[in-house]
Amino acid sequence: MSIIFNEENKIFTLQTKSSSYQMKVDSYGLLVHTYYGKKIPICDMSYNFENGYYLSFSPYDAIAQPWNPHSVDMLPQEISTYGNGDFRESAINVRQADGSLGLELRYDSYKIEKGKYSLQGLPSFYGENAETLVITLKDKVYDIYVHLYYGIFEEYDLITRAYKVENKTNSAINLEKAMISLDFFNGDFDLVTFHGKHMKERMLQRNEVFYGTSSVGSSRGASSHMQNPFAILCDTNANEEYGSVYGFGLVYSGNFLISASKSQNRSTRVNVGINPENFNFILEAGDSFVTPEVAMVYSNEGFGKMSRCYHKAIRNNLCRGKFKTARRPVLINNWEGTYFDFNADKLVAMANDASKIGIELFVMDDGWFGKRDNDLSGLGDWTPNEKKLQGTLKELGDRINATGMKFGIWFEPECISADSDLYRAHPDYAFQMPNRVPSESRNQLVLDMSRKEVRDNIYNQLEKVLNSANISYVKWDFNRHISDLYSVALPKDRQGEVFHRYILGLYELLERITANFPDILFESCSGGGGRVDMGMLYYMPQVWTSDNSDAIDRLEIQYGTSFAYPVSAMGAHVSTVPNHGNARVTPLKTRGIVAYFGTYGVELDITKMTDEEKTEIQRQIVEFKEYYDLIQYGEYYRLQGPFDSTKFYTVWEVAKEDGSEALVASVRNRNEAGFVHEIIKLNGLIPDKFYRINNSEKLYSGAALMEHGLKMEYDFFAYPARLYHITLAE
Ligand code: GLA
Repeated sequence: MSIIFNEENKIFTLQTKSSSYQMKVDSYGLLVHTYYGKKIPICDMSYNFENGYYLSFSPYDAIAQPWNPHSVDMLPQEISTYGNGDFRESAINVRQADGSLGLELRYDSYKIEKGKYSLQGLPSFYGENAETLVITLKDKVYDIYVHLYYGIFEEYDLITRAYKVENKTNSAINLEKAMISLDFFNGDFDLVTFHGKHMKERMLQRNEVFYGTSSVGSSRGASSHMQNPFAILCDTNANEEYGSVYGFGLVYSGNFLISASKSQNRSTRVNVGINPENFNFILEAGDSFVTPEVAMVYSNEGFGKMSRCYHKAIRNNLCRGKFKTARRPVLINNWEGTYFDFNADKLVAMANDASKIGIELFVMDDGWFGKRDNDLSGLGDWTPNEKKLQGTLKELGDRINATGMKFGIWFEPECISADSDLYRAHPDYAFQMPNRVPSESRNQLVLDMSRKEVRDNIYNQLEKVLNSANISYVKWDFNRHISDLYSVALPKDRQGEVFHRYILGLYELLERITANFPDILFESCSGGGGRVDMGMLYYMPQVWTSDNSDAIDRLEIQYGTSFAYPVSAMGAHVSTVPNHGNARVTPLKTRGIVAYFGTYGVELDITKMTDEEKTEIQRQIVEFKEYYDLIQYGEYYRLQGPFDSTKFYTVWEVAKEDGSEALVASVRNRNEAGFVHEIIKLNGLIPDKFYRINNSEKLYSGAALMEHGLKMEYDFFAYPARLYHITLAE
């Protein structure tokens, strides 16, 4: 049992393998958050504030005795509201029919269920290996209910949270904010977030949580390249292996906000959820609203352990479909090889060469449909361009299949070019404000996915294409953010719902297409890594991590991405040099090793490669497949990150859970003189066992490799990379 309810003291304790989480219904009916942290035996942890807790200027319950004030401004709470005395950042704001902002949630009831709850219309972790707790709160005055959901995955130290707001009054109310909050009674923390931009996503940023509020978020209609909906609150001295760290992953792909605020009483509140800016949802009498889920992992042993918990949970209990754990085909994508400039003969020539060296799937990227020879036109018209394809799509698919390869294609279903038949027929399908010319981005507009007829139109077009040929893979792209938001389908007082309704519409479309085409491998993309989030991973088990395919820049991008997301989700390709993004020249071997720690694919014009280069790719595919299970399902350790300017190498490792085998990868990412040998301590091995490194005769004890470390070999050329395969000696 991971959920324990003490009826007498009204204490809910959630126990995972290494963490405890506790709430208590206090004598005022308030659901107080008493503890979240390292696992401890069950004990009522409300003793520090049970006799009241008060500072001047903090309002308190009018019925409280003066010497025992009960102040919502002071107490740690499970869900904080605004309007009745808590001046900290609230989690939920409800505007009542009379215009007031009051909401005083008090305990009503609870239930415990086997298995994990699911959320209507929203992605969420799932699994029989979890338990669910639902605590129902009710407003003191009105029939407004909030059902708090908790999903407990004991093994992964994962607790998921979401809630449903139910309006059982007779009038409409406005939901102006609906986030998840978590209060820490004391302690000093850092907040780690992942910022970026197109081609440089998920750069780690660490700041002290100060008195006030620090926050990151997106108001771009997508989770975005600029900030990721994942953050970590940690001890100020936490590192990869040490300290208390709390991960917060939002299972959502739209606008979000993550904030950490420190208050006068040194308490810290984390808020995670839909960005309240431009959000206002009307709940008519009888309506309800479900928030996106927040996936929280606690680790008492630093960031590394937290990441490994997320990796397993995402792989096994978030991703779905037959590819979630199956070996994915090694693909070649023609984008960086040809851009828009191709015809069928060119693609088949590439497929021919690719097939000979062991590549298994050919992906035809942008440019195969409508009038689409550049990015000025064509989006929305999902009809194959038979002139360019020199026949039907089926014929092209058959030609690709005849080379021994599977066939995949690219779509950008949520966007539309003004120069398209779909736009000419239905200009109102695109977001635009009345009387204004909408702004374009990459020469395109965004379709109003909150509307069913728009989704149906796109679905029907996609379905027709997917049924017309033997298609095994789809890349689902989204290449701009949403401006000029306005839905003609909603009245003026409901325009604050459009961003969220867009995402609900997108999720409905993704559900429909992935359910109806279960044999297709889907990869999501948004100008590379603009929607790398747990929401998209529920529908598609892998994502194109970044449009930046340079192996050295990728070290930083994959490093940041690995804090929450598993290797199995990270699209990574070997591309040509000089790199198209930054003109850097790196060895082919280095490009291969970096791409191994993702889904490994190739993205270049293979017909232009030398025989020697092709042989090297062939070797890489064999090597990648040999290490596939270890890399994809192993325990991931960041041994040395790419950001320390005094260090030369970036080093990481995957190890079997039982410590019997490991693979260490190192890349010298600083191409500078003044080199110093670096000795790196490995991880995840069995201390008293002996190992060989790359089949060496020499034996090394696990303890020595972990405590004394391993010297990284020196190669005298730019950006070398090495693999160290660590195997148990018989
Ligand atoms: C985006 C993607 C690229 C490619 C292009 C095609 O930028 O990230 O990989 O598919 O679109 O236009």
